[in-house]
Amino acid sequence: MDILAAMWRRVSVRSYDVRPVEQALVERLLGLARTTDHLTEVPPRIALVSGVERTRRVLTYMIGSYGLVQNAPHLLVGVLPEESDMARLDLGYVLEQVVLEATRLGLGTCWVTGSYDARRAGEAVGLTPGEVVAAVCALGYPARDRWGRFHSRTVRYLAGGHRRKPLTEIVFSDRWGEPWSPDSADPTLVAILEHARLAPSANNRQPWRFIVRPDYVTLALVRPAPIDGGIVMAHFALASAALRRDGRWEVRLRDDTLARECGLPQRVIPVAVFKR
Ligand SMILES: Cc1cc2nc3c(=O)[nH]c(=O)nc-3n(C[C@H](O)[C@H](O)[C@H](O)COP(=O)(O)O)c2cc1C
Repeated sequence: MDILAAMWRRVSVRSYDVRPVEQALVERLLGLARTTDHLTEVPPRIALVSGVERTRRVLTYMIGSYGLVQNAPHLLVGVLPEESDMARLDLGYVLEQVVLEATRLGLGTCWVTGSYDARRAGEAVGLTPGEVVAAVCALGYPARDRWGRFHSRTVRYLAGGHRRKPLTEIVFSDRWGEPWSPDSADPTLVAILEHARLAPSANNRQPWRFIVRPDYVTLALVRPAPIDGGIVMAHFALASAALRRDGRWEVRLRDDTLARECGLPQRVIPVAVFKR
């Protein structure tokens, strides 16, 4: 499965087969987390918690809650070197690359920032002074039994996880609020944006907006959700590379000049520009 197919295939899996993932695959994912492209000088540390009993202690169990994740044999724990929006952005960027690689390997994942116990996650992986746990991600083979599959699908449906905003709602032309149409746009850029649109986000809020200009694409967030921002940046960059459209993100978090150039409303946060 190539990376573009993985973006279409990935869904949040909330019910797992208890069997552990093969050591070699886990090592491959942790190795990718250590070496993959990142946005800050000190990237996040991705640590591992294994064993259903141990992951259950971290994933607080609330009946009827949106965040019900069952039987995860592993958790990838996202540890920031320090608390900052920049570090959160990088965590989204790095860990989503691992999520997509896991999808390619046939594994299920589910980002969790709501329904888990950050203190227990920190105790399980051991933190050095200043380090902060900002998210965990369940990892394992999706449950194959009928109840498990039903549970995963139902929670996803109830969480509205199957819905995505249309591109015309999240992409503007030149300046904030100016309508953009895929019909008159570069087809490769449209394909990249289609893959960015598939990115997961907390509560499926899809807080990202893109402003397309002739020489660069700006990413902005309509709410302070830097992890979601990093996740969508990973989708955009990976899709861009897969479709042979060279370019890189330049982070410009809360940059007033960029906000003015794009005519962003006060509440909207400029994040980065993607330049060819
Ligand atoms: C940063 C982040 C935090 C999330 N937190 C939770 C969570 O606490 N509990 C949960 O069940 N799902 C959580 N999710 C999964 C989202 O609900 C899910 O990605 C979204 O509904 C889209 O569905 P999909 O991933 O199946 O495409 C989170 C996703 C992201 C990206």
